[in-house]
Amino acid sequence: MCGIVGYVGKRNAKDIIIDGLKRLEYRGYDSAGIALLTDKGILVRKRVGGIANLENLISDENLSANVGIGHTRWATHGAPSDVNSHPHTAFNDRISIVHNGIIENYAELKHMLVKEHKIEFKSETDTEVAAHLIGLHYEETGSLEDAIFETAKEIKGAYSIVAVAADEPGKLVAIRNDAPIIVGKGNGENFVASDIPALLGYAEEIYPMGNSEVVVLTEDSITFYNSKRKVITHNPLDVNWDIDAAEKEGFEHFLLKEIFDQPNAIRETIKRRLDSKGNINLEGATFTKEILDDINKIYIVACGTSYYAGLVGKALIEKYVKIPVETDVASEFRYRDAIVDKHTLFIAISQSGETSDTLQALREAKAHGARILSIVNVVGSSVARESDDCLYTWAGPEISVASTKAYTTQLIMLYLLSLYMGITKKTVTKKFAKEFVDELLAIPDKMLDYLNNAKEVEKLAVKFSDKKQIFYIGRGLDAHVAFEGSLKLKEISYINSFAIQAGELKHGTIALMEEGVVTIALSTQDALISKMASNMQEVKARGAYVLAIAKEGNDKVKDHSSYTLFIPRVRDEIAPLLSVVPLQLFAYYFAKANDRPIHKPRNLAKSVTVE
Ligand code: M6R
Repeated sequence: MCGIVGYVGKRNAKDIIIDGLKRLEYRGYDSAGIALLTDKGILVRKRVGGIANLENLISDENLSANVGIGHTRWATHGAPSDVNSHPHTAFNDRISIVHNGIIENYAELKHMLVKEHKIEFKSETDTEVAAHLIGLHYEETGSLEDAIFETAKEIKGAYSIVAVAADEPGKLVAIRNDAPIIVGKGNGENFVASDIPALLGYAEEIYPMGNSEVVVLTEDSITFYNSKRKVITHNPLDVNWDIDAAEKEGFEHFLLKEIFDQPNAIRETIKRRLDSKGNINLEGATFTKEILDDINKIYIVACGTSYYAGLVGKALIEKYVKIPVETDVASEFRYRDAIVDKHTLFIAISQSGETSDTLQALREAKAHGARILSIVNVVGSSVARESDDCLYTWAGPEISVASTKAYTTQLIMLYLLSLYMGITKKTVTKKFAKEFVDELLAIPDKMLDYLNNAKEVEKLAVKFSDKKQIFYIGRGLDAHVAFEGSLKLKEISYINSFAIQAGELKHGTIALMEEGVVTIALSTQDALISKMASNMQEVKARGAYVLAIAKEGNDKVKDHSSYTLFIPRVRDEIAPLLSVVPLQLFAYYFAKANDRPIHKPRNLAKSVTVE
């Protein structure tokens, strides 16, 4: 959601902050602002709209400062506007803050501030409440970190705040509470940001922050405090992302680049989980036979694309590990009194590791005694840190709001996890697992080859780009991939797309099939080909186009479709890794043909850190 960048050092803070904010654009935002500590006090500039608007605003000013904070806002309290944009100021404009997340008790605090302190609010934001509280405490204590510690006692919610004070130049103070903040260490300069890409190429080392911790940065010191104000240390994160990985490398959009990143991301994710003999090694999640025998139920809980990966995971674990698995979207799990105890394994899947719904569901399961395993892409993120065991995917930075390589690498982790558990529980043989892994190892080349020859997908996406709705159907694993394909299309093209298990069509949705309708039918599961053939015929018989996705060699599928896209031949269980690719490309080219802002789809944020 919102993005934060802060800098203290000797360089021009404005340039570093604006560059960092641009690298966080993918998170989604509607306004941008900056506060710089100058000789004349704190100078704040902010504008609704893109960072370009902010740059235009300050283009004629000679803004030179060595300390500053910047923010991209995704509106929660108060509409997108100049005045509601961050940074916000208090204490006669001698304190300025940026804030991510939500102050849940802002209304009562605002009432108190107006009534007891006669404060006049400029904006409708919850952030300004925090700014004034910090301002009041600053007046009492004269120390920015003291003021922030005091404010933290009063505000409730998930938030991260970074503040500067005109009377303490050369200092940044940040607090983290359930909303991400990382700290970057440089040579004679230090940084804070809400996400790693902002600091790539600037910081030499990146440090995580725990909940309720405060960090004080000067150009040559970083001091972390826990909530009891005790000085603590953190180890730097092992971030293997580089600046190139976070840039477009000649692709028109991050989405297309990340679709093409998948072969490499998959290769990395597998490679890091195999030992020298090719055996699966899940360091970070060591499940002994005793532990697995004690688990009688598994929940896989996630949101959006990660949830759809989880649906495939359920099928794999039930098939290879023989433990019943329930899947749930995180926002539902939290409030439905799910049956969880110490014999439950709770698997959270999250690209960002900061999705509020997933994090809260994880905590709920933990409170009921479940063992927590997470599959996460962002190293050191909240979900990863709050889990008993964490398996990182190695997708690299996923910038595009529409998730692609996170999904396929999550699938890889789910394959490896289910095989590893199966071997440990002796529900699959080592020989079977080895053959399976060999087939997974061949996927990157097959996928790359497919990607380089996928012109047909683009042609079909353009051909159908005037359609106002598209249906997706499939059976078994194909149904799960259909949901993911449909989500991709609606996110970036803004047209209605609807996915349904093909066998369910006849129970209602078939009423919508008529001349001109387009239905994408996944038929990659050999065992279900004849069933899918009937479903495709039902659709075609009503005048709709059927665009089938089938495995090479299954030519018969052509008899039941209007168009057929063939993916390389793999075993049924592995097909989701490849069948999702034409769906990702279809969504991309469809949105492009409709001139949609693929880079910044409306209303969406990359990392959903509010409930
Ligand atoms: O970071 P997470 O994997 O926890 O995010 C979950 C969803 O918000 C995310 O997958 C979302 O649905 C994507 N925009 C899908 O493309």
